[in-house]
Amino acid sequence: MAEPKAFFLSTPIYYVNDAPHIGHAYTTTAGDVATRWRRQRGEEVWFLTGVDEHGTKVQRAAEKGGVSPQEWVDRLVAQSWLPVLETIDAANDDFIRTTEPRHRDRVQLFWQRVKDNGYVYSAEYEGPYCVGCEEFKLAGDLAEGEGEFAEQLVCPVHGRPAEQLQETNWFFQLSVFADRLLQHYEAHPEAIQPRSAYNEVMSFVRQGLVDISMSRSSVSWGIPLAWDAQQVTYVWFDALLNYATAVGYGAEPGTADAERFARVWPPDVNLVGKDILRFHAVYWPAMLMAAGLEPPRKVFAHGWLLVGGEKMSKSKLTGIAPEQIIDTFGSDAFRYYFLRAIQFGQDGSFSWEDMHARYTAELANGLGNLASRGTAMVVRYRDGELPAGHDLTDAERQIVDSLARTVSVADPAFCELDFSTGIVAVKEFIDLVNLYVTEQEPWVLAKDEAQSARLDVVLATICESLRAIAVLYNPLMPKAMSSLWEQLGAQAQLGPRAEQRIVDVASWGQLPAGTRITKGDSLFPRIEEA
Ligand code: ME8
Ligand code: MG
Repeated sequence: MAEPKAFFLSTPIYYVNDAPHIGHAYTTTAGDVATRWRRQRGEEVWFLTGVDEHGTKVQRAAEKGGVSPQEWVDRLVAQSWLPVLETIDAANDDFIRTTEPRHRDRVQLFWQRVKDNGYVYSAEYEGPYCVGCEEFKLAGDLAEGEGEFAEQLVCPVHGRPAEQLQETNWFFQLSVFADRLLQHYEAHPEAIQPRSAYNEVMSFVRQGLVDISMSRSSVSWGIPLAWDAQQVTYVWFDALLNYATAVGYGAEPGTADAERFARVWPPDVNLVGKDILRFHAVYWPAMLMAAGLEPPRKVFAHGWLLVGGEKMSKSKLTGIAPEQIIDTFGSDAFRYYFLRAIQFGQDGSFSWEDMHARYTAELANGLGNLASRGTAMVVRYRDGELPAGHDLTDAERQIVDSLARTVSVADPAFCELDFSTGIVAVKEFIDLVNLYVTEQEPWVLAKDEAQSARLDVVLATICESLRAIAVLYNPLMPKAMSSLWEQLGAQAQLGPRAEQRIVDVASWGQLPAGTRITKGDSLFPRIEEA
């Protein structure tokens, strides 16, 4: 029997003109939570991230830094881009760099095929180019400048005038794919999300598409064309291909790489910020069609983290480094906050006050308090031995039912990248269990020997609820849930938490009587107001 296709999710590959900020960490975190959730469902997953090392933007950053582009990218990748994955606790399966031979060779192969298929020709390009976007701009793309650029046309994202280019390039015949793209997206409206992104792409494509340069003759830092060593591949038409080259596109049949490609293609989700929607939902699928490959099943364009109402950006030096937040709050709270506080797909702002308030209310007082009360009471009243809790009353049945509903909301939400809905579903379950503890008053039951069996039920209910929460929040907050799993003594009874399946999480009574419960460190220690 054929094995099912692996779930393949990618992040953009980020430019290494500078170090990462929380915008980049945001996308990677979202991808990490989505793929950890899929793994927790028992799916085979491939989670790809990496860096975009070529192009004018990186070349100029290196020049400014006084080193060669290769030295520049090597240093930044080693010192910043790889370490940030540890900082945010990402469990990616691969990390692609576009200067790697596997990428270079396969990019050359890809474009040779597209040329052989008749979609590449030589012509003169004349027009504006934004180095910040690394993009040939169309008339409608530019906006009136302000301040020092008043009365000039500027890139609306970078706020600076585009540069005027004139060069002989190789062109990709994008125009012939407009109808096929429209047909494809009409048949697959789920292939571009959210809906606003779908509408934007459809109206763009309906206006017709113009051919675009797929090479640069005045740039040297890039991948030479297979048939014209004087030109390098236009950086976007190099970078987009990472999603294929990294998983083995073009590998020799019978090799492990070729098998990987067969197992993962096409991408289930190309996750991107809305700044690069057009590249991913128009150019990228057209390139794939030109090469005879299946386009991605979904491009999801999330919103921007804003600073003062504008997109946080490396070019504008408005970035906040992920460590700045994580050193104080930890990676779990970072992951929680951004996916909880901002509806995925919409813009949002970061504020220390909001982060602190939610950390305190929802993590320290909400989940943290439930975990510490629950484990501490088993230690105090039952010497750390989980009692059996058989005779459920309505109060417990309400918890059991609520857990089943929680899973039925959270599972589709996390699968559809609606993180805040998924997180809130679990949070409401936590609130309900906290309320249950308050109402049942186990500390009162503990004073009355006649209530001993009732106390057993309450303690078992709290710990069983914590068992389910530890599984449901494992993809979101792996470090804290590892600690909770340990405090619950669950590892010895149920095995590793990563092996607990979402489909089974609501079946009640998994943590057996006699389990050793310990009171560990607080999951979310209180943090003084910054
Ligand atoms: O565009 N808010 O790289 P890039 C949210 N190399 N997300 C943000 C963000 C913000 N303020 N700023 C950046 C490139 N991002 C190309 C991509 S892919 C084949 C090539 C995230 O370094 C978001 O995912 O400019 C955005 O799309 C991406 O970083 C752009 O990173
Ligand atoms: Mg950018």
